[in-house]
Amino acid sequence: MNIASNRKPKHLAVIMDGNGRWAKLRGLPRVEGHRQGMKAVKTCILSCLDLKIPYLTLYAFSLENWERPFREVRFLMKLLQTYARRERDFFHKKGVRVRVIGDFEKLPTIVRRELQEVINLTRDNTKLELQLALSYGGRNEILRAVERLVDARESGKSAKEVLTEEYFSSFLDTADLPDPDLVIRTSGEHRVSNFLLWQIAYSELYFTERLWPEFDRIELEKAIQSFGARSRRFGKVEFSQDLSSQTG
Ligand code: IPE
Ligand code: IPE
Ligand code: MG
Repeated sequence: MNIASNRKPKHLAVIMDGNGRWAKLRGLPRVEGHRQGMKAVKTCILSCLDLKIPYLTLYAFSLENWERPFREVRFLMKLLQTYARRERDFFHKKGVRVRVIGDFEKLPTIVRRELQEVINLTRDNTKLELQLALSYGGRNEILRAVERLVDARESGKSAKEVLTEEYFSSFLDTADLPDPDLVIRTSGEHRVSNFLLWQIAYSELYFTERLWPEFDRIELEKAIQSFGARSRRFGKVEFSQDLSSQTG
């Protein structure tokens, strides 16, 4: 696929949904869907590297997902732990910088330890910045940001003096990242499920019926093509429309 760089998202965010349904359709336990979903994760990362998309954020486990049956949560944590260990060298070799956004402290110690190793090892890599949203909730992220902001506030300064959108953003988990240009959600659901609530104010949204384990390079390219054909106005008017309205 040959898409001009100004037609490609700089930051792609994905709500990877439909693992359970993928498994159910095949008469398999839900956890098999998660296992298969990991393969789609790898394909997605490799595609972003190849397409030179510099930021990728993957919604892998929400705060609300903690309320799933204990066995499923336990399986997912184990999967995460082995994934972090197994893929560590792959990330580093490919120049991927890995980070975690979300309520990190809620993750089991062993999982945190494995993730921290990957984070430390890859911290200077620059080819692709990969954010794994784990134990993540958008509202929770905003509240944690408020907490940090309040703690950091210099005494004597009023809230009004310090509170700008830019300043507030610097307390979010995504502090130094650009906002997502494109958010993809798989599995036919049309909702954001508490994902990056602050950051997606002007993101383009793309929904596909595909279940996450079947989301491949071709599907990703379709989403990028769709993104490339859109007119992002950010509340303004397009330059060409502006001219015609002046002469008309
Ligand atoms: C997404 O797939 C993965 C996680 C939320 C961990 P689901 O597990 O939500 O799959 P469905 O939506 O039940 O099919
Ligand atoms: C959103 O999927 C969370 C992730 C993909 C990690 P869910 O399956 O948890 O969301 P709902 O319940 O359909 O909104
Ligand atoms: Mg789901």
